[in-house]
Amino acid sequence: SPSDPDLVERARAAKEKLGDKVFVLGHHYQRDEVIQFADVTGDSFKLARDAAARPEAEYIVFCGVHFMAESADILTSDDQKVVLPDLAAGCSMADMATAEQVAECWDVLTEAGVAEQVVPVSYMNSSADIKAFTGKHGGTICTSSNAKRALDWAFEQGEKVLFLPDQHLGRNTAVRDMGMSLDDCVVYNPHKPNGGLTAEELRAAKMILWRGHCSVHGRFSLDSVNDVRARIPGVNVLVHPECKHEVVAAADHVGSTEYIIKALEAAPAGSKWAIGTELNLVRRLANRFAPEGKEIVFLDKTVCFCSTMNRIDLPHLVWTLESLAEGNLVNRIEVDKETEAFAKLALERMLALP
Ligand code: 13P
Ligand code: SF4
Repeated sequence: SPSDPDLVERARAAKEKLGDKVFVLGHHYQRDEVIQFADVTGDSFKLARDAAARPEAEYIVFCGVHFMAESADILTSDDQKVVLPDLAAGCSMADMATAEQVAECWDVLTEAGVAEQVVPVSYMNSSADIKAFTGKHGGTICTSSNAKRALDWAFEQGEKVLFLPDQHLGRNTAVRDMGMSLDDCVVYNPHKPNGGLTAEELRAAKMILWRGHCSVHGRFSLDSVNDVRARIPGVNVLVHPECKHEVVAAADHVGSTEYIIKALEAAPAGSKWAIGTELNLVRRLANRFAPEGKEIVFLDKTVCFCSTMNRIDLPHLVWTLESLAEGNLVNRIEVDKETEAFAKLALERMLALP
């Protein structure tokens, strides 16, 4: 739907007043009405790097979700302020691993006698506490665009990986990109005693996958893939690696949001694509590439927005920019110093991956 012209004008005026003091980052899942004000758009890896590359901006307005804003705060200098336009924009997957649960898991691994062989690899989609745990235990962060390189690195450091919190990205990367089998993977369930695993199972496993998932990508099923292939002959199925393993195994291509965009840019006219990721992005790509004769559809029949990404809307952005322009610092995301130091270690290991 077209944005309210009055709000568009107010956002533009506030941004102009702030000038170089503000830098607006927009994740690809953001609404069109918000994306139009982003100085840069990207996947979570690109945005983390872009935030770190703007030392002159006093305010980094992060149009995305909480863990992304935390990561930006960790990677920027102390006098830069990272702002999240709606504090309720969290991520249900990141919430599936708490610091207490992960500490308990480490105790279970220690009891089983495997902790010394384990290197934690945590998906960007996790709280700063989990990133700090990862840094403290010699591990790295990864995103959907560098998960294979992160696992390659981790298996040079140790024999096993504890992958947090997205079981699907962990399993898909291990099986699809690293040649492991499904039997090399076990799932640690934080709601069961000992994670629901025996010490023997932990000793035999190469990948210990945390039982977390994305509810948005979890809605795509093998039926969605089969249905779209029946409906659109010759369609290319392209999905995000947060999808279930059976969906990824049935797809033609798999990659991060940035990868999805590049693949569609390179696609020939007349090609047909079904995309398994968040709907704001898929709709934007469908509109962008329709004039070039590329047919792009959403993989599922029902709509599938990320409700927390969608919390950042034009009214919240206007309020944020106008507040900053008036000198009121609102919705700052600030990670405490101790957490930051260890989380930064893990993030820097990611940024240094070959
Ligand atoms: P990427 O932007 O890294 O592909 O991640 C998608 C996502 O779900 C972010 O929450
Ligand atoms: Fe989290 Fe999934 Fe939303 Fe990404 S799409 S922010 S993983 S809930």
